[in-house]
Amino acid sequence: MADTSNDPFPSHCASDMTMEPRLPTQVETERLLLRMWEPTDAATLGEVIQQNIEYLVPWMPWAKFEPTSTIDRMALIAEWTDDWRSGGSCVYGVFLRQDDGSLTAIGGTGLHRRIGTNGLEIGYWIDHAHWGSGLATELSAALTTVAFAQPGVDRVEIHHDKANVRSSVIPERLGFAVIGEETREVIAQAEIGITVVWRMLEADWPANEPEAQQPAP
Ligand SMILES: CC(C)(COP(=O)(O)OP(=O)(O)OC[C@H]1O[C@@H](n2cnc3c(N)ncnc32)[C@H](O)[C@@H]1OP(=O)(O)O)[C@@H](O)C(=O)NCCC(=O)NCCS
Repeated sequence: MADTSNDPFPSHCASDMTMEPRLPTQVETERLLLRMWEPTDAATLGEVIQQNIEYLVPWMPWAKFEPTSTIDRMALIAEWTDDWRSGGSCVYGVFLRQDDGSLTAIGGTGLHRRIGTNGLEIGYWIDHAHWGSGLATELSAALTTVAFAQPGVDRVEIHHDKANVRSSVIPERLGFAVIGEETREVIAQAEIGITVVWRMLEADWPANEPEAQQPAP
C-alpha cells in the first residue's frame, strides 16, 4: 500500500506552477520502505552496489562505471534531488524493514519522467541475497499505484532488455501488457539490444477498480 504521509517535501511545495508536481519522497509497502536517497546514504549505497556488482553489470548500464567514490555518489544523489525538486524523476532507495524495526538498504528503484508527460517508468534492482522473494514485484505494484495518483499520469511502463527474463516476470505478473519492442544499441554486458516495453493503463490497474477500494464486508 502506498503511503505518502510524513513527506518532508510535499508536492504542493512546488513553487513553479509550470513544472510537473513533485513525486512523493517515500512510499511504504508491506515489507519495504522506498525513500529518496539522501547524501548520508552514499557509503551504504556504494556497499550494496559493490556486493552486487556481478549481478548489476550485466543489466544496469551505470554499473560499468563502478566503483565510484563516496564524494561522487553524494554529488549524484544531490543531482537526483535537484531533478526531483524541479518536478522530475524520483530515485528511491529500497529499504527492508527488519523484525526489530530497523531498515536495511537492499536495492534501488525509481519513478522516471522519461516517457512523456502522462507517463512514468519504473526501474529496479535488488540485492541478490533477496532475489525471488517477490520484493521487486511488491515495490513495482506500490509504485504503479503511486504513479496513478499523480495528476495527469495515465500510463506506467517497465522497460527491460529482452534477454533479461527475470525482469520481465515482474510486469507480467502485475498484469502489464507488452506494447512493443524497440531496437537500440547494447549498453550493458548481457543485453541483446532489444527493449521490451510493458505498459499499464490507469483504467486497467486493479487497485483503481471500485471493488478494490471498497472495505471488505
Ligand atoms: C530483476 C530483479 C529486480 C528481480 O528482483 P526479485 O526481487 O528477485 O523479483 P521477484 O522476486 O519479485 O520476481 C522474480 C521472479 O522471477 C522468477 N524468475 C527468475 N528467473 C526467471 C527466469 N529465467 N524465467 C522465468 N522466471 C524467472 C523468480 O522465480 C521469481 O518468481 P517467484 O517469486 O515466483 O519465484 C533482480 O533480479 C535484479 O535486481 N536483477 C539485476 C538488475 C536488473 O536486471 N534490473 C532490471 C533491469 S530492467
